Amino acid sequence: MNWGPLIDAAVAARNNAHAPYSGFKVGAALKTQDGPIHQGCNVENRSYGATICAERIAVGSAISSGATGIEGVVVVTDTSPPSPPCGLCLQVLAEFGDAQLPILLVNLEGERLEFRLGDFLPHPFDLPG
Ligand code: THU
Repeated sequence: MNWGPLIDAAVAARNNAHAPYSGFKVGAALKTQDGPIHQGCNVENRSYGATICAERIAVGSAISSGATGIEGVVVVTDTSPPSPPCGLCLQVLAEFGDAQLPILLVNLEGERLEFRLGDFLPHPFDLPG
């Protein structure tokens, strides 16, 4: 995986995060099959509950642009170690990627931790049949 452009996109997206309530900015970027990079940042809301995570914004951008699958995900935070996606975002990623989907966690100091979706969510919810 050529992570460089995805990291750049996720850092750029993080700079646009709307996080006045938590102060916790997140950027995400996705590689899609044969497609451009899609990025997202967290978009918080004064109701708190309407907040959307960076990863789900990026997935929405990719799917609404015609992507059908995801091949790699970068998440950028300013924590050490870099933070993983929340459970809700993992389930959304599992809709479009399998257990082998690479997820790279990065922070602004350049720490990198690479995982697979199955490391975080080994048993995603699925409908029977
Ligand atoms: N957040 C994300 O953007 N992605 C995650 O996977 C976890 C949490 C955001 C939501 C909220 O704006 C802030 O981080 C604090 O929870």
